[in-house]
Amino acid sequence: MISRFGLGSRTDARKWIGAGRIAVNGTVIRTPDHWVAVDRDTVTLDGKPLRARERTYRLLYKPGGYLTTYKDPEGRPTVYDLIGDVEEFVFPVGRLDRDTSGLLILTNDAELAERLTNPGYKVPKTYLVKTAAVLGEEAIEQLRRGVTLSDGPTLPAVVHRLRNSASSTFLEIVITEGRNRQVRRMIEAVGSRVRKLVRTAIGPVRIGDLQIGAHRRLTGREVQQLRLAARAGGRSRTVVARNDDPD
Ligand code: URA
Repeated sequence: MISRFGLGSRTDARKWIGAGRIAVNGTVIRTPDHWVAVDRDTVTLDGKPLRARERTYRLLYKPGGYLTTYKDPEGRPTVYDLIGDVEEFVFPVGRLDRDTSGLLILTNDAELAERLTNPGYKVPKTYLVKTAAVLGEEAIEQLRRGVTLSDGPTLPAVVHRLRNSASSTFLEIVITEGRNRQVRRMIEAVGSRVRKLVRTAIGPVRIGDLQIGAHRRLTGREVQQLRLAARAGGRSRTVVARNDDPD
């Protein structure tokens, strides 16, 4: 797909194609799903060659208090304040709430980002949760089976009680969707509230011993593992048909 070449979003790419401005190997293309081999084909916009942009992947340990957005009209800190030294433009893969901390992937690879966030690919996201009250066994079972939220029932989740303190339960919860404030709303649906929420993993990639507020490049192996995780999930459920990434 043309958006692999960078220079704009998928929406831009569709507009350019609709306007007949994009050619592949000299032939104007008319469909946004036109297959392009990044390493072999010559793609032009208004006759000027587009070069495939290098894909880049960062893992940030987002602290609480930072917004997952580019700019905040109220001037609050955003994740871009933490990655100011990264030269390439990257965007966050999904969102973490302001008060949630933990693993956030930032990339310019729109295709992988879409797979990691589209629930059809069922890529697991793992969170540590501290609740505002001790949860009983029935509440934990409900979370496992799925609870009904205002936007519909959740899929079953993997839930482990790690321990209880006098006033809280500490849980690990693994979900494969990524709805707005989903974990917080799930905990509310079973009668409590979230005191603290940390994302520790996306698929096989874990936050490990990265310092809070720090970021690093994902290794090639981690990127490969993420691609595999997205593919494995995609096969187990029918999703909108799309080309497989040949890279
Ligand atoms: N679920 C939430 O409630 N918040 C997040 O930031 C992520 C998952």
